[in-house]
Amino acid sequence: MASFDIDRRALIAAGALAATASAAKAEVKRATGPGFLWGTAGAAYQVEGGNYASDVWALEHIKPTYFVEPSGDAADVYNRVEQDLAYVASLGFNCHRFSLEWSRIEPEQGQISYAGLDYYRRVLEACHRHKLAPVVTYNHNSVPRWFAAAGGFETPDGILPFVGFCDLVTRHMGDLIAVAATLNEPNVNALLYWIPQLQAGQAALADMRRSIAANLNAPRWSSPIFGDFHIQQPIMIETHARAYDAIKAASGGRLPVGVTLALNNDLPPRPESGLTSGVQAKRAQILTPWLNAPGDWVGIQNYTEARVGLTADLPNDPGVEVTQMGYPFAPRALEAVIRTVAGLTKRPIYVTENGIATEDDSRRVAFIREAVKGVLAARADGIDVRSYIHWSLLDNFEWTNGYRPKFGLVAVDRQTFKRTPKPSAAFFGAIARTGQVT
Ligand code: BGC
Repeated sequence: MASFDIDRRALIAAGALAATASAAKAEVKRATGPGFLWGTAGAAYQVEGGNYASDVWALEHIKPTYFVEPSGDAADVYNRVEQDLAYVASLGFNCHRFSLEWSRIEPEQGQISYAGLDYYRRVLEACHRHKLAPVVTYNHNSVPRWFAAAGGFETPDGILPFVGFCDLVTRHMGDLIAVAATLNEPNVNALLYWIPQLQAGQAALADMRRSIAANLNAPRWSSPIFGDFHIQQPIMIETHARAYDAIKAASGGRLPVGVTLALNNDLPPRPESGLTSGVQAKRAQILTPWLNAPGDWVGIQNYTEARVGLTADLPNDPGVEVTQMGYPFAPRALEAVIRTVAGLTKRPIYVTENGIATEDDSRRVAFIREAVKGVLAARADGIDVRSYIHWSLLDNFEWTNGYRPKFGLVAVDRQTFKRTPKPSAAFFGAIARTGQVT
């Protein structure tokens, strides 16, 4: 296997793009530096389709379920990844973030699918053919059924199986990975815990969990996306730390390894409300423990801002524009989060997700314009931000919300899988080529 230098790969990728337009080259260097990564993201379960051995597939089909519809074929990326990557490269991006579906690689505990491993190796090879530095998330929310049935990350027994998976993957394809993330948003359940409206769904979630435990004869069933963060978070921190060591060791220390975190821009209550701020308490729960864990970089995934009362987020301000997810439209939240994280750690920052769910693509264009301005402003102040990766390339399966929220730069027909780029795709591609916001 060829050895592969991460930082050089990023440099080569960006350099290769810039070489196509020498004028653009100078711009890219000035605004973001030659190694800056511009790209789009997706996650295996949300786009590939047919991940039957995953816990989420089982949850979608149990009655009662909390999912508005099943994922089915998703965007059929499993069969269309080569064309998708070619399209991404043609827009001018120099990286692509995707995840590995553990249940494709280890559908039953200890039973390794070499075809599954080879599939992802081919995806990585395709990234390289298209000069896209692969930013790979080893686990993005979904896990094999057998893993959930054994208690998931709500038991320390979950640590070693995942660490073994990280070792296996890194040995098989680590030479082709540019940047590695162990877990996607392992802090998200802690973050969701602060949102009172979501707490209202707890009874329905408990019903789904009881049903799956009874129907699959799996009394310990725990799906990480619905796990109790009080139990799960310390175990996931330990899992991340051990996975970090495993990936480092299996890559001979070469791979930069980090974790991606769900982070809103948390704001204190409006002064006139007289309410006490819970910003510090929330940060201590969802951010600080992860910054104290090992890592070569920190991944920021930001979609919005929230006002935070003593024990919970406050309702949106009246009249505020909201996205399809019900979040305030707040593209400048990203810069604020970058500055917060940079104030707490010296680690490099990768923006691994940022985006908006909307049917109105002109709002996506406006969102990207403002968000990227914030990234460039942070960099201009010397903050070491190394990527802006937009969520998402494609309209895809938004977990319990099914296909309703539209996060994609590209629309996908649900039956033919035809891809139709939205204006925001070309808009963001132009930013990636020039390193500037027009
Ligand atoms: C997750 C994605 C999700 C996106 C939009 C992030 O929390 O990593 O899987 O689709 O946000 O909600």
